[in-house]
Amino acid sequence: MSEIRDLSLKDEGKRKIDWVRSYMPALGGIECEFERDKPFKGRKIAISIHLEAKTARLALALRSGGAEVHVTGCNPLATHDDVAAALVDMGFEVNAWRGATAGEYERHLVNTLACSPDIILDDGGDLTNLLHGTCADKRLSLIGGTEETTTGVHRLRARAAAGELKFPVIAANDAKCKHLFDNRYGTGQSTWDAIMHTTNVMVTGKRVVVAGYGYCGRGVAARAKGLGADVVVTEVDPVCALEALMDGYRVMPMDEAAPIGDFFITVTGCNRVITARHLERMRDGVILCNAGHFDVEIDKNDLNALAVEVIDRRLNIQGFRMADGRILNLLAEGRLVNLASGNGHPAEIMDMSFAIQALCLRYLSEHGAGLSPGVYDVPADIDGRVGRVKLAAMGMKIDTLTEEQEAYLAAY
Ligand code: NAI
Repeated sequence: MSEIRDLSLKDEGKRKIDWVRSYMPALGGIECEFERDKPFKGRKIAISIHLEAKTARLALALRSGGAEVHVTGCNPLATHDDVAAALVDMGFEVNAWRGATAGEYERHLVNTLACSPDIILDDGGDLTNLLHGTCADKRLSLIGGTEETTTGVHRLRARAAAGELKFPVIAANDAKCKHLFDNRYGTGQSTWDAIMHTTNVMVTGKRVVVAGYGYCGRGVAARAKGLGADVVVTEVDPVCALEALMDGYRVMPMDEAAPIGDFFITVTGCNRVITARHLERMRDGVILCNAGHFDVEIDKNDLNALAVEVIDRRLNIQGFRMADGRILNLLAEGRLVNLASGNGHPAEIMDMSFAIQALCLRYLSEHGAGLSPGVYDVPADIDGRVGRVKLAAMGMKIDTLTEEQEAYLAAY
């Protein structure tokens, strides 16, 4: 039984899915193989991931491979209701809607697990956590899963280190063809796309504070620089901080950045990166947003506690009026701005991420039964294959080692 917002939105959802198809050639090629080989015949796959057009393409590819696919979101604000409607119209079970309350969000995940999946695809670890808690009875036939994002992989590794992980999971995020492109270029472009579209304000000449200089932060900072902003980076890791410095950014603690920034973008995967003591020192009119997985990086409790009034300023912008009259603007309730107030990553980027996912899911379907519980790297040949296919799709050729060169490189 599906639970979505409005089935009448299906035609717009289908147009969106159709639009991204032509920008996802790697996944398209894999889908043709799936149609031929049916690697998921008889398998139930539960996917919990930002539910938008590119995700729908992945669900369709898995179904072409013989899977029964059950779909839910992984964030209460990231679901595109029209895409959810299109998937239901195409015969998928979908449990998700944009603006779900905490209770609705959990119900949607629990309902998705009711099928007792053979394989799961998780993004952030919420589905995995349920399968270790209230839905433990739904993992009877579970072979294993894949995890899409950095925060989910952190949670998995913590669970595995505690000896509590009960099934094998492939860390899809850690594939080179995922985090080097999706986290960096995907988050970089889509975060700025969302901020500019949501606010309609100028970036050039402004001071942008990026918290976290990991893969996502590098992309967000590089795009800000390209837009003509003066970029400041905050970090806790000395090596990442040095890298930011040598990439040409100013580096300082958030305490020093707070009074000088115009835009603040958190992308650390950590909690309480911006708290009351920072908010108290920010300038009137600042724009605050987050691109990390959970809405914990900008402390919303502190924002609410300091505010004398909360104003709906524009779609996806809340203004928090401070006692001294300053207004601090928060985008998309502090949830990942590129998905909660944007279109997510470009289709060409998700083509690579979902090609990785599709091949990992195939690997699990064919070889997962022999794996013991643990966090696994993406098989190396999958990364290489996606890289080659993507280059070819972009019309690029590269050199090949000659036999003589291979011998030289193998010599000692
Ligand atoms: P990463 O581990 O490569 O980078 C995180 C960086 O933040 C590290 O350099 C770390 O030292 C730094 N950091 C941690 N705590 C900090 C603090 N309190 N203050 C300042 N810096 C701090 O992780 P990655 O891949 O960049 O992911 C970051 C977050 O973004 C994760 O939650 C991830 O799941 C999420 N993500 C979001 C995407 C989106 O579409 N918005 C796409 C991919 C990942």
